[in-house]
Amino acid sequence: MRVIILDSAKDVAQFAANTIIDTVNRKMRPTLGLATGSTPIEAYRAVIDAYKTNRVSFAQTVTFNLDEYIGIKEEHVQSYRYFMNQHLFNHIDIPLSNTFLPGAASLNEAQLHKNAHQYEEAIKKAGGIDLQLLGIGKNGHIGFNEPTSSLRSRTRIKSLSESTIEANKRLFKNGEYQPRLALTMGIETILESRQLLLLATGSTKANAVKDMVEGPLTAMCPASALQLHQDATIVIDSEAADKLVMKDYYLWCEQQRQDLE
Ligand code: PGA
Repeated sequence: MRVIILDSAKDVAQFAANTIIDTVNRKMRPTLGLATGSTPIEAYRAVIDAYKTNRVSFAQTVTFNLDEYIGIKEEHVQSYRYFMNQHLFNHIDIPLSNTFLPGAASLNEAQLHKNAHQYEEAIKKAGGIDLQLLGIGKNGHIGFNEPTSSLRSRTRIKSLSESTIEANKRLFKNGEYQPRLALTMGIETILESRQLLLLATGSTKANAVKDMVEGPLTAMCPASALQLHQDATIVIDSEAADKLVMKDYYLWCEQQRQDLE
């Protein structure tokens, strides 16, 4: 794991945007894995900025999002499709037909299983994911792979944990229906991406970051599965890095890398 500790959340966003832009500019037909949540919003803003100043085009890019709420229609303001259109897709030149999220609008279980399988097939057909962007939950989840998720899991129906429902409450109006189920890429699906980029900012993520980087490999912290990946970069601000025992070592490693370059 490469651990990059930056001064501020703004630096984390800019780093993520640069990595996305480099990937898209390097590939003929780039495939990005994208994430929702508060953390990537600033990064998406920086990506839009780069598009508007002609530093990148998404005309050939295909995207797959990590997850979607079950039982919420695409046009609903709480759907992750809506989030992605609002925060990224509507502002860049990506054809919407090249942007995919798990098909979760149905409430029919058999249909949801079928959609989950089709999502895996679609990722394969696109040649796999070049770069997967990730956030991390306070409980260590990635996507909606909650603690105790199988480390070999594939796209499937997942019940959200109490801690996730609580953490996301802030995004719903008083009395508004808050989904308790999602279709999410599995941990193994995520690990098959060629490159992983996980972002975390703020002190509320410090414990999860510590468990992910320095804890044991365990289903109790799904993000610890990133320890198994050959090209996983964790980009965090100093608050999220606060509990890392080997913080000085990670900073030193980055210094060495810069000297080499
Ligand atoms: P956040 O969510 O970016 O809103 O903190 C991250 C996550 O739950 O994966």
